[in-house]
Amino acid sequence: MSFTLPDLPYAYDALQPYMSRETLEFHHDKHHAAYVTNGNNLLKGTEFEGKTLEEIVKGSYGKNPGLFNNAGQHYNHLHFWKWLKPNGGGKIPGKLEKKIIEDLGSVEKAKEDFIQAGVTQFGSGWSWLAVKDGKLIIAKTPNGESPLVHGATPILGVDVWEHSYYIDYRNRRPDYLKAFVENLVNWEYVEELYEAATR
Ligand code: FE2
Repeated sequence: MSFTLPDLPYAYDALQPYMSRETLEFHHDKHHAAYVTNGNNLLKGTEFEGKTLEEIVKGSYGKNPGLFNNAGQHYNHLHFWKWLKPNGGGKIPGKLEKKIIEDLGSVEKAKEDFIQAGVTQFGSGWSWLAVKDGKLIIAKTPNGESPLVHGATPILGVDVWEHSYYIDYRNRRPDYLKAFVENLVNWEYVEELYEAATR
């Protein structure tokens, strides 16, 4: 399959004041678009043409770094737009909340650990909530990697590349991560992915 840039599932100014129109214009229209264009160019003529995005991400990891970086980031951003919503954060759906408490201690601890993973990711990368062997885990990855290439299924991820927060938060990555968790997360989408991962 070739990669296509989806439209954002909300208006460019819908996530203000936590994420500005300018950030979304650059992040979606320039950065994600570049991963799509470069990924398509690098996919041509490889053994991965005709494979699903997940197959391309897993198959190119450690074998074709150029393709992997762009396909990985395309996969991450496809979900990232859906992990955000206007008036997000708030109450976590019951079944997912129960599992978070069971595997990660408490909702508060899980949020803190997720934020801390993002704060301590040195340089560019992502912080994750993922399902591994039926259990929830918190993880961080560099650059375009995700838990997908480490035998797990991501159900929530936050982009900590500077392009995702520098316009709005400058160097204050922790403030961006707090706003993401408290005001932007689309927990219904997280639960949907959790259900799919544990079905
Ligand atoms: Fe990004």
